Amino acid sequence: MSETIVEILPSDESVAIYAASLLNEWASEDEAPMAVALAGGSTPKRLYQLLAQENELPWERFQWYFGDERSVPADDADSNYRMAREALFDAAGINADSVHRVKTELGDPASVAQDYEKTIKERVPLNDQGVPVFDVIFLGMGTDGHTASLFPHTTALDVRDRAVVENHVTQLDTWRYTLTAPVLLAAKRVVLLVTGASKTQALWEVLEGDENVAEYPTQLLREREGETLWLVDEAAAGNLWEEADDDGDGDA
Ligand code: 6PG
Repeated sequence: MSETIVEILPSDESVAIYAASLLNEWASEDEAPMAVALAGGSTPKRLYQLLAQENELPWERFQWYFGDERSVPADDADSNYRMAREALFDAAGINADSVHRVKTELGDPASVAQDYEKTIKERVPLNDQGVPVFDVIFLGMGTDGHTASLFPHTTALDVRDRAVVENHVTQLDTWRYTLTAPVLLAAKRVVLLVTGASKTQALWEVLEGDENVAEYPTQLLREREGETLWLVDEAAAGNLWEEADDDGDGDA
């Protein structure tokens, strides 16, 4: 049963704090390994910094992956891996063997995507359809309604037979690497961190607008069987749910 939960929190800092507390809670539910895919961009950086300060997370049970990556070297300022390495992995002293980045240095985009798909499918448990099932996928959302590197009107949006693909993003005139819709749909938990007033319009279109996945790719999460959790600050929520929030619990 598909369930979309929207938690509206006072600030971007409170979004990060709440997301960190959730990962701790989920990690304490059992002793199983945790395969976590991290979001890129700027929003999740604070979450990663807070996680690095946690000293009760069972780091040895975690394997870290990326929901998407830019076609830049691993030490590039625009690298999602570099952001997570600085904010989380290095800060927490996480064993490099548990971090699985997109090896953008491998050359042509198709080879890079195939290599990362192989890395994931060798390590993350597969469902009956052969789709990797992450324990948690953290995602952001762009002002255009993209998530991971599934951008509006790009070919990756329609891929259903791969777990990772290269995606040429015309809007940015660049190649990106991204988990595909089947992987986002199969994950046990998907958590989106969306903050800032610039996201309000896209947030409404994705959560409340008419179905138009090509235009607002994050709408694809509506197909999820499980829970999709949106952690949104008041700036991003704007007045979208004021009338709906008469009971004050912030749920949509
Ligand atoms: C990326 C991300 C992307 C990001 C959104 C939001 O590589 O840029 O994976 O999907 O989550 O663009 O980015 P901000 O958090 O910077 O607003």
